[in-house]
Amino acid sequence: MAIDLDGAVALVTGGANGIGAAAARRLAARGARVVVADVDERGAEVAAAIGGRFARCDVREQADNEAAVAAAVTAFGGLDVAFLNAGVSTTSVRLGGPAWDLAAYRRAFGINVDGVFFGVNAALLALRARGRGALVFTSSLAGLTAVPGDPSTPRPSTPSSASPEPSAPRWQRITSP
Ligand SMILES: NC(=O)c1ccc[n+]([C@@H]2O[C@H](COP(=O)([O-])OP(=O)(O)OC[C@H]3O[C@@H](n4cnc5c(N)ncnc54)[C@H](O)[C@@H]3O)[C@@H](O)[C@H]2O)c1
Repeated sequence: MAIDLDGAVALVTGGANGIGAAAARRLAARGARVVVADVDERGAEVAAAIGGRFARCDVREQADNEAAVAAAVTAFGGLDVAFLNAGVSTTSVRLGGPAWDLAAYRRAFGINVDGVFFGVNAALLALRARGRGALVFTSSLAGLTAVPGDPSTPRPSTPSSASPEPSAPRWQRITSP
């Protein structure tokens, strides 16, 4: 069922590029007023093209999330949709070995985990003020299945194994004995 977005106010984090920019354009095409929130200043061009607003926002910073929501409330009178989409790949983390990259791990968690919690926390007050609303998140198939190269996917313990990449995922129902 199509949701009526005409006149709705939407915040899109990571809205300067990729999925977020496409979502911002689609939301605007459906009549929503959009705040594009991103560290990348190219978000200003996306916002300008759709009659929206740009909020420079590093989702790792609680204050930036609050400022992005405040920008929506100030410009458009409230918030109806928070699409918390900003995220980065974790393939650079490289678990298990000398290439392990603690800084990449911290960055990925700061954006992919803290950024979502801070975004929800910032949006909730404004959504509650409306009495309704939607929180939408971009996730990844890597949360459902093994992905070669993803640090959360285990690799074979012996390098000489016939299979250099993780085996296909197997699902098993765990039942009581
Ligand atoms: N494209 C894919 O195949 C794929 C697969 C799985 C998951 N995802 C997830 O989908 C989401 C969007 O991916 P995409 O392909 O559009 O990526 P993208 O790199 O094109 O866009 C991500 C956006 O997030 C922004 N961003 C990065 N760090 C930020 C920060 N600290 N604060 C605010 N914004 C920040 C970037 O500037 C960029 O505009 C991400 O969460 C990504 O992890 C994408």
